[in-house]
Amino acid sequence: MVDVSANAKVVGYNVTENGRLLRRFASVERRSMRILAAWLPEIAHWETKKAVARHIWDEAEHVTWLRQRLGELRGGRPDTDADPGMVQLMNEVINAPHTAGLIGGLYLGVKRHLLDGYKGHINKTNDIVDAPTIKVLHRIIHEEQQHLTWAEAIYEELTRDETVRRQAEEWSTYIDGLIRSLGPFDALMLIAEPAPSPPRSYTPFRRSMKAHRDDRFDVRPAREVYKTQKQMNAETHEESIISNFQIYATEMWAAELVASCIYDAPYDMPWEFFYDLAHQCWDEARHAAMGELRLAEMGVSLSDFPTAVSEYERGVRMPMLHRFCDLTVMAEAEHIHVRRPRLQKYLEGGDLRSAEFVDYDWSDEVNHVRYGFRWVKYMLEGDARSLDDLKAEVWEWRRRLSQENPDLRLPPYFEMEE
Ligand SMILES: [Fe+2]
Ligand SMILES: [Fe+2]
Repeated sequence: MVDVSANAKVVGYNVTENGRLLRRFASVERRSMRILAAWLPEIAHWETKKAVARHIWDEAEHVTWLRQRLGELRGGRPDTDADPGMVQLMNEVINAPHTAGLIGGLYLGVKRHLLDGYKGHINKTNDIVDAPTIKVLHRIIHEEQQHLTWAEAIYEELTRDETVRRQAEEWSTYIDGLIRSLGPFDALMLIAEPAPSPPRSYTPFRRSMKAHRDDRFDVRPAREVYKTQKQMNAETHEESIISNFQIYATEMWAAELVASCIYDAPYDMPWEFFYDLAHQCWDEARHAAMGELRLAEMGVSLSDFPTAVSEYERGVRMPMLHRFCDLTVMAEAEHIHVRRPRLQKYLEGGDLRSAEFVDYDWSDEVNHVRYGFRWVKYMLEGDARSLDDLKAEVWEWRRRLSQENPDLRLPPYFEMEE
């Protein structure tokens, strides 16, 4: 007798059935990522915002792992046969009334049922022939379980207000009804059309063009928050650490801007585009967290200095192509040279902590510049415009926006030293 586990003895999913379910899972993960990207600027609560930026990246990895496994399983094109009922559900989840509703509907609703679906899938597939799927699903389950545990705690915190709680509950009940009307996520056939109708408080999602911050922040336009490169170069070591890490702490605007590109990009962009941007989004949120931590170590809290979100509000007014070019090929590429001397300065000053942080930031920014050139060039394929023509158009936007609204002027650090 061969010594095998109970699951090796079952006749599990065949390859076609397996592919069908994995395509569904990949589609739910991808749509979750897009919903989180849409919401990132709208979320005011700082801790929630940082966590959501991380989850955007986690979801992007889940999609990638599922797509890789689908590729091994003769799985075809992952995006072609998303279940209509599931699409309808995900098109509704984005319309949450507020952040608490988003957590209630997406995390405590959809993602909880997705987690159950993954566990069900593992139980129903053969663990010898389909072991690679099981391995992938275990990796995803581990992170989805973390998301759920986080969501349960943050939901309590965000629903202390009576009205918010009532709206969040009403919304979650609606989403739960849609989910239940589809059947379990690991059923081979879902019911095609979700039944319940939306609550009375229903408002379709619309991005507000603003990047929201909670009460701890003192939000002002970029020109009042940042210094010129020349001013920063003249600072003492102590002053320059504070200035630099204050800039890092404001970098959430860049995460939000990249998230807006994920949301606004055509769905048929290559998957690798979304994957790269999800990484960049999380990186920028980590740069903000890094700034926050280094300042805290020096006794400076988030409320002790002004923050700016106007770089988000400037960028989001441009088309996605110009927005992404403005951030990566123009701003990030043109500021990469300040990294080496900054690191050198901290190392020479014996400040290994600050050096550690800026060293990693430098690597991340090199990747962002690479993503920028890669995808801007891709988006310009077959286009009459050259990269220089596109940059000229971005400059037109920059000038026009600063004329329309002085708060949307370029930040002072753009005035580079001669
Ligand atoms: Fe950054
Ligand atoms: Fe960056």
